[in-house]
Amino acid sequence: MDAPRLPSLFNLVALETVDSTNAKARRLAEKGPDETPEGTFVWAMEQTAGRGRRGRDWHSPKGNFYASIVLRPEVPLKDAAQFSFVAALAVFDTMGSLGPPGISVTTKWPNDVLISGRKAAGILLEAQGGDGDQLPEFLIVGVGVNLMSFPEDAAFPATSLAEEGAPILPPEFLGVFARHFLAWTRLWVDEGFDRVRKNWTWRCDQVGQEIEVRLGDRSLTGVFKDLDENGALILETEAGIETVQAGDVYFLASGLDA
Ligand code: BTN
Repeated sequence: MDAPRLPSLFNLVALETVDSTNAKARRLAEKGPDETPEGTFVWAMEQTAGRGRRGRDWHSPKGNFYASIVLRPEVPLKDAAQFSFVAALAVFDTMGSLGPPGISVTTKWPNDVLISGRKAAGILLEAQGGDGDQLPEFLIVGVGVNLMSFPEDAAFPATSLAEEGAPILPPEFLGVFARHFLAWTRLWVDEGFDRVRKNWTWRCDQVGQEIEVRLGDRSLTGVFKDLDENGALILETEAGIETVQAGDVYFLASGLDA
């Protein structure tokens, strides 16, 4: 496998095939910080049991990008979700760096990156230990990007970089993504989540629009006002302001729906 050099803060574990890079990263992280330091970066060419948010499967054939980064930040568990916005911004910038001129990339709450309104990437954040104000033992930031192929039957319409005119290979995506991830992490460290939040919000064309948020057994409709200080979605409904911690967003205006 042709693996690029990553910034030296990362420790690359490159695999041909794996069940799930998140699962592999967790197994490694459980060995402790001496054996698996922060920045351990598990990258695989394919996954046999890739997983998405809310217990869904993640389409994982060869040709796409699958990676999970082990972090050991000194932040309470309640702030950990902020890293999924850091990762989304890094994916956004990588697509902008590698895509054709005029590529239309946007962020979608909570953790997706879209091209022309279709999902091209998802992020799965998992934590070990910690509770609210306590520090987790580690975090795993899992990133999946449709480079060559995408599922035709996904609940939210999908696409790939190849479909959008940018046939990028996984090693090329990896090298550029790692640099952007580091840059956004440094911004988070130096200036805090508020700067990350503003950058993410600026890239989300649904802010100010009417959306539907599905929360398992019920759904809410309202105007997407903003993100709160931890990344929860602030929705203005007819009944008042709702702060949504987890859910799936569907767009009412675009016609792109399940
Ligand atoms: C989503 O549901 O949108 C999140 C998808 C996350 C998929 C990535 S692929 C790499 C990492 N390993 C996994 O099993 N899942 C994440």
